[in-house]
Amino acid sequence: MSKIQVEDLSVIFGRRTKEAQELQKAGRSKVEILNQTGCTVGVSKASMDIQEGEVFVVMGLSGSGKSTLLRCFNRLIEPTDGTVKVDGNDILQINEHALREFRRTKMTMVFQHFGLLPHRTVSSNVAFGLEIQGVDEDTRLKKAYEVIKTVGLEGYEEKMTGQLSGGMQQRVGLARALATDPEILLMDEAFSALDPLIRTQMQEELLQLQEKVHKTILFITHDLDEALKLGDRIAIMKDGLIVQTGTPEEILTNPADDYVRAFVENVDRGGIVTAGSVMFKNPNAVRIKQDGPRAALRKMSKGGVTSMPVVGENGTFIGFVKDTDMKEMEDKGLRDIEQYMYTKEQVTAVKADTPVADLLPLFLDTDLNLAVVDDDRKLVGVVVHSSVIAEMIGKERSEVKQIRDEGGIDL
Ligand SMILES: Nc1ncnc2c1ncn2[C@@H]1O[C@H](COP(=O)(O)OP(=O)(O)OP(=O)(O)O)[C@@H](O)[C@H]1O
Ligand SMILES: [Mg+2]
Repeated sequence: MSKIQVEDLSVIFGRRTKEAQELQKAGRSKVEILNQTGCTVGVSKASMDIQEGEVFVVMGLSGSGKSTLLRCFNRLIEPTDGTVKVDGNDILQINEHALREFRRTKMTMVFQHFGLLPHRTVSSNVAFGLEIQGVDEDTRLKKAYEVIKTVGLEGYEEKMTGQLSGGMQQRVGLARALATDPEILLMDEAFSALDPLIRTQMQEELLQLQEKVHKTILFITHDLDEALKLGDRIAIMKDGLIVQTGTPEEILTNPADDYVRAFVENVDRGGIVTAGSVMFKNPNAVRIKQDGPRAALRKMSKGGVTSMPVVGENGTFIGFVKDTDMKEMEDKGLRDIEQYMYTKEQVTAVKADTPVADLLPLFLDTDLNLAVVDDDRKLVGVVVHSSVIAEMIGKERSEVKQIRDEGGIDL
């Protein structure tokens, strides 16, 4: 279910916004608009649909408009144009009173620099939002202790926050956000101030926490690895525009333009890209009992392959045959391909959601391709060695061929 719907949202900073908007409509770039009007385009016609319970990441370089976009969600910034609907209600239209109520109950922000009160205890910081809401002390401390436990800070309740490490302070920040039980968490570069090891740890913890709390999370980062790790979906921003929205795998395997392609080029993709996106779908197969060695050879030569999966009557994967074996059978006048088939015991089948990094070891002791099967063991695809290698190094197969042609030594 859709939780937040953003449509054609624009934020233009400066005085001549009307003029800037006209230029924007005419498709002028951020730089052109700045030069002509002196206005800065913060966000340009952004649209997105954030689902309930998902971690939606907005990623982009510094100045691309991420924070500006996020601040429109709770109206810390008033957009120049467009709509932001939460649960179907346009929050740009609601009055002051309703807005305050909305900020108190629906959405909370977690800041990069924690925004804590250093001379107050952890529990008092965590209970702060409830204190503002006028919740009585017993109730708010009880709630604070509960969420402090959730973020793994049990035992630190009465310590001063100023004495805690960065990672712990950010956990306090997270606990404070969770204490008011908001439906939506806005996290702007929440982990960027942490050192790398602690940052990785916090990312894992956020994912574990999300398993428990199922909030709708809008997470902002300029770090692609962080985006790929946390995001159910990612929107990539450039100069105020959203240039692509998709799952991590969609973005890695199908970058929308050269900008995104350059961005994702050096990413470690093996853990994200799956067998399903590198396989050849609905592959031709040899049918057991029906096809003899001659038919098998014909199919292989037609497909330009040297081995082929074998399926049973209902399309169930049962093994592989090789062209050399089929030739030998023909020469010997043998008919039943089962005699020369590599059976399930000798070959591996994988599911479509297996990450390609897990496929590499399977290729080590075989020159056969890999079968991809569904839950009923029906053959749905074939993965060949070169596609996996190409995917791991982030090159198109044609590029790999080119490297071979250019880099090889004539023997
Ligand atoms: N209050 C403001 N007045 C004028 N221009 C602004 C204002 N806030 C942001 N901008 C401009 O809007 C654009 C987007 O800024 P924003 O802070 O949203 O980027 P960001 O993606 O969050 O960057 P960072 O990764 O550095 O936090 C930038 O060009 C910035 O200079
Ligand atoms: Mg920012």
